[in-house]
Amino acid sequence: MFLKKKETPQIDPQQRELYEHARKRIIQKKRLFQHFVIFIVGAVFFALLNLVFDYGKDITFFGVNWYVVAILCWAFLFIVHFCNVWLFTTFMGREWSDKQMERLIAKQKEEIALMQKDVDLMYPKDDLMKKKEGFIKGKTSEIVEELKEKESKNMITMIAAAGENDALGKDNDLVWHLPDDFKRFKDLTTGHHIIMGRKTFETFPKLLPNRIHIVISRNESYQAEGAIVVHSMKDALDIAKNDVQPFIIGGGEIYKIGLAYADAIELTRVHGDFEADAFFPAIDEETWKLEKEEFHDVDEKHKYSFTYLTYKKK
Ligand SMILES: NC(=O)c1ccc[n+]([C@@H]2O[C@H](COP(=O)([O-])OP(=O)(O)OC[C@H]3O[C@@H](n4cnc5c(N)ncnc54)[C@H](OP(=O)(O)O)[C@@H]3O)[C@@H](O)[C@H]2O)c1
Repeated sequence: MFLKKKETPQIDPQQRELYEHARKRIIQKKRLFQHFVIFIVGAVFFALLNLVFDYGKDITFFGVNWYVVAILCWAFLFIVHFCNVWLFTTFMGREWSDKQMERLIAKQKEEIALMQKDVDLMYPKDDLMKKKEGFIKGKTSEIVEELKEKESKNMITMIAAAGENDALGKDNDLVWHLPDDFKRFKDLTTGHHIIMGRKTFETFPKLLPNRIHIVISRNESYQAEGAIVVHSMKDALDIAKNDVQPFIIGGGEIYKIGLAYADAIELTRVHGDFEADAFFPAIDEETWKLEKEEFHDVDEKHKYSFTYLTYKKK
């Protein structure tokens, strides 16, 4: 004979959470009410002690009778308790906590993605696989040397959008509006140093968030609020030397100088010829290897089609 095992009812986790929340709220309110009753009884007791039984009639604090001070202090504690239970849970209740939590999680995810981007740059997957094989084969010291060498080198990257005729902009402005390219620029450069010429800096209405701005100018007295001013590309790169991927973001004059220092180019080739007064320098195929390309078609937000091209120095 087997006894049928009693099944425990399954409670929906969401319902359980709601139930737990309601239970806690009831306990909180009950305690608040108890505190209120004790406070009233206590206050009356103090008053009677003093007024009817003359207890401590001559004890004062700053000229105020002790029982008044005691009641005021207690009233303050009661108000704090009330705020905690009522006001904070009304205005900073579960919904508020959930929103805060979501915001914090989103922010942390963003930071993790940024860190991951840097790690991927420092240790590309292919390299890691090679190293893993090396470790298995016992070539530890060679791998440590290679790692040290890699750590001391950052990837200086030029990032630009240029037409088929290398057009960059005209009258200190861009000649197209490509939101997806802007987004890519933001994603790639956030958290890094951005190096630019004085003219490009002056096209910005405000500083770009979460990036260190380095402005190059020949003018020794030039000042740019919120940015670091230097007078050569070398100085700019020196400031950014601990950044795994500093970006040279233009314009024409600065790209021309930057080409000799860059290890990579993120170029958005906009399909069309444009009238311009600033141009991207020619990319020599002997020096640069095209590693990746991704086409973006015309759509309601993008008047021109374009291709993201990633070049690495050979
Ligand atoms: N399509 C894109 O991706 C992109 C990106 C960035 C900019 N742009 C466009 O490019 C245009 C601006 O480019 P640009 O070539 O006219 O100007 P720029 O390269 O932004 O800045 C030129 C300034 O940099 C300083 N400079 C240049 N060479 C230097 C050197 N060797 N040493 C020290 N300082 C030096 C000088 O500043 P001082 O005059 O103060 O000495 C010079 O006037 C704008 O139309 C902008 O919209 C396009």
